[in-house]
Amino acid sequence: MTYHDPVLLKESVDQLVKNPDGIYVDVTFGGGGHSREILSRLSDKGRLISFDQDLDAKQNIIEDPRFQLVLSNFRYVKNQLKFLGITQIDGLLGDLGVSSHQFDTGERGFSTRFEGDLDMRMNQQQSKTAASFLMEADESDIARVFANYGELRSAKKWANKIVHERKENEIKTTTDLKNLFAGFIPDHRKNKIYAQLFQALRIEINDEMKALEELLLSTPDIIKPDGRLVLISYHSLEDRLAKRFIRSGMFEGEPEKDMYGNWYAPFKPLQSKAMTANEDEIAKNPRARSAKLRIGIRNHAEEEK
Ligand SMILES: C[S@@+](CC[C@H](N)C(=O)[O-])C[C@H]1O[C@@H](n2cnc3c(N)ncnc32)[C@H](O)[C@@H]1O
Repeated sequence: MTYHDPVLLKESVDQLVKNPDGIYVDVTFGGGGHSREILSRLSDKGRLISFDQDLDAKQNIIEDPRFQLVLSNFRYVKNQLKFLGITQIDGLLGDLGVSSHQFDTGERGFSTRFEGDLDMRMNQQQSKTAASFLMEADESDIARVFANYGELRSAKKWANKIVHERKENEIKTTTDLKNLFAGFIPDHRKNKIYAQLFQALRIEINDEMKALEELLLSTPDIIKPDGRLVLISYHSLEDRLAKRFIRSGMFEGEPEKDMYGNWYAPFKPLQSKAMTANEDEIAKNPRARSAKLRIGIRNHAEEEK
């Protein structure tokens, strides 16, 4: 089985690499599909630093003197680069979320399709798992996660069921969680609701939204003027952050405008609409269906004011 089929490969790397001698960062190495494509566009002088927080990614390491893999959460990208003596880069790519390898490894608990422990940690060294969260968190916290990250309408009801169940039985596996709800969901809605529940838990366990915010906020400091921020997202919560940040440098609200109607923005969007995969790619790789590609071009300092 392949580790991961890269999505929007050509489209994203075409927009990322504009200087073959430059330094690039791929913050979501995974199976290394995008990283390999980036390297293929670089000269001998170019450099690529890739990140992943999943130790499994190490098996895909690329033997190339221009390449380096950093096993770290991408929220620390700025400091990790500084540690390598790099303060400015030509572009950064983030192909967000979970790899097919993570989904398809049943015992990691990401997928509703397999029996496995409710683990869901991308970083196997962290202690909080989906099971420990469900067994220990306050009911209101569980409801918040289901509502905010799963966009589930009956979040409070599901959280209440969990808290009742855990008094009697451990909620340990993917099947325990599905069985708990099975009797309350009509068959035709089960897959959708399970997917929303699992997505919500995964985002919480990996602190995905906060990590993405921290990553984005660090990008103006490290990407050179005219350098590119290239983001591929797979659900609306991620895409909203990417879109707002690239447009205004903020996640909420509107930036303050000056007397001429200009506002401070570290990037300008290449296009106002996200790029999506074509039917051919979607037919070959169904995961591409939800992908949205957004590109920001780093402004020069004088354009920020
Ligand atoms: C969609 S996959 C990337 C696939 C990759 N582009 C390829 O071509 O194989 C996302 C990867 O990013 C990693 N990841 C997700 N969030 C991360 C974070 N906050 N820090 C570091 N790695 C992260 C996951 O472990 C996963 O391997």
